[in-house]
Amino acid sequence: MEQSNGPVWSPQPRQAIFMSRPEYEALYGGAAGGGKSDALLMEALRQVHIPHYRGLILRKTFPQLTELIDRSREVYGRAFPSARYNDSKHCWTFPSGAKIYFGSMQYTKDRINYQGKRFDYIAFDELTHFTWDEYSYMFSRNRPGGPGTRCYIRAATNPGGIGHGWVKQRFIDPAPPMMTIRRPGEKPRIFVPARVYDNHILLNNDPTYLDSMQMLPEAERKALLEGSWDSFSGQVFTEFTDDPEHYYDRRWTHVIDPFDVPAHWRIYRGFDWGYAKPFAVTWTAADEKGRLYMIKELYGWNGNVDTGCMMEPLAVAAKIKEIETQDPLLRGKVINGVADPAIFQKTTGQSIAEIMEKERVYFTSGDNSRLSGKMQYHYRLRFNEDGIPMMYVFSNCVQFIRTFRELTYDEKHVEDVNTKGEDHLYDAQRYVLMENPITAPLPAKPKPFRPDPLDLGLNRR
Ligand SMILES: Nc1ncnc2c1ncn2[C@@H]1O[C@H](COP(=O)(O)OP(=O)(O)O)[C@@H](O)[C@H]1O
Ligand SMILES: [Mg+2]
Repeated sequence: MEQSNGPVWSPQPRQAIFMSRPEYEALYGGAAGGGKSDALLMEALRQVHIPHYRGLILRKTFPQLTELIDRSREVYGRAFPSARYNDSKHCWTFPSGAKIYFGSMQYTKDRINYQGKRFDYIAFDELTHFTWDEYSYMFSRNRPGGPGTRCYIRAATNPGGIGHGWVKQRFIDPAPPMMTIRRPGEKPRIFVPARVYDNHILLNNDPTYLDSMQMLPEAERKALLEGSWDSFSGQVFTEFTDDPEHYYDRRWTHVIDPFDVPAHWRIYRGFDWGYAKPFAVTWTAADEKGRLYMIKELYGWNGNVDTGCMMEPLAVAAKIKEIETQDPLLRGKVINGVADPAIFQKTTGQSIAEIMEKERVYFTSGDNSRLSGKMQYHYRLRFNEDGIPMMYVFSNCVQFIRTFRELTYDEKHVEDVNTKGEDHLYDAQRYVLMENPITAPLPAKPKPFRPDPLDLGLNRR
């Protein structure tokens, strides 16, 4: 890839290691921004001087490919001025006749698109977005169309995503990074870790990159910044703080002493339906600045962990009405109900929502985007520099406090809350948060300098 004024692209040291591996399969994995996608793209060019060479670069969905295609236009186009990109076929043709395709596999059935085709080089970007079936199917497509090419598979990914489990099992667990994994009857494979500190070009071009990563919740930050494969385990809301010493001044604690909320604050009621499992109701007040205060809860359980009290919808609605007419903080208020969309389904004639309307307890259908809802919690729990978060919980909401801090990550959907946990009050409140979404808080002050493990002057700015 030489031009008169020097190379169009040259690998950074860690990319060079990944690109020199002899194993049949190699995964370049870990931190976001480590230079993984670039490495996959450039690796595809290695054999374009061979006329029958065919390369394929995959992402899960087609729109996600746009970035890769744009990047290929920059680099392929400059390295091979007479190479041509065909927009409708998503294919580059090189002067020798060699081709590199871009493809997606949004649904497992899209595998059919690759049936009967063959590729010498197959690259999966963001491998954890794919299932094992999708990945392993493509092995049958990894065949030469003539002599002299090397056939191999490459992938890159961050931890997290639907395929986190199988990718970890295949590449991370069997051996330390950089050690070839050998299994009887299988071709060798290897995991090459990527760290954001390895990508000096990115860190120099975008000095705020690390700051924006520092703003992520703990588990996401460990996954995306450090490339940790184990961060999605254990407690989800590690930032949740219950400090009785500060209940009175409301600083650096999420749990606070109840107080008389001003009459003009808006009130929301979140609802998650359950019968054999607990149902859950939260009441939340919003101040003028949009800060939320969970003032009351109703947990429909029988006193045993995660076990419902088997109350019929009409009785639940009557209970809600009773609370709203008696509680001094709620009496006489306009209350905006928002609930699990499932209560609007008509399975046996009347929906749960319709039944509850008989008691004049009304709901709108909540936004059930689970990961967005989880991020709303993280955003709201973040303390500003004075120790004030965007969401408080009154100390009388004891079941919310108990169950919320116990929530763990899901083993399959590793970034999400484990729905087998006691997540009912969490869900009820999630609908309230999604009614009042906020944007990610920004760092209040410039962050102190971070360690620069390679001493390459990254902090000189
Ligand atoms: N060797 C390189 N030369 C020039 N730019 C690079 C190189 N490696 C990575 N970059 C740039 O760094 C940024 C992040 O790289 P990318 O491959 O997208 O990271 P990742 O896929 O690991 O998140 C991109 O803008 C990319 O073009
Ligand atoms: Mg990438």
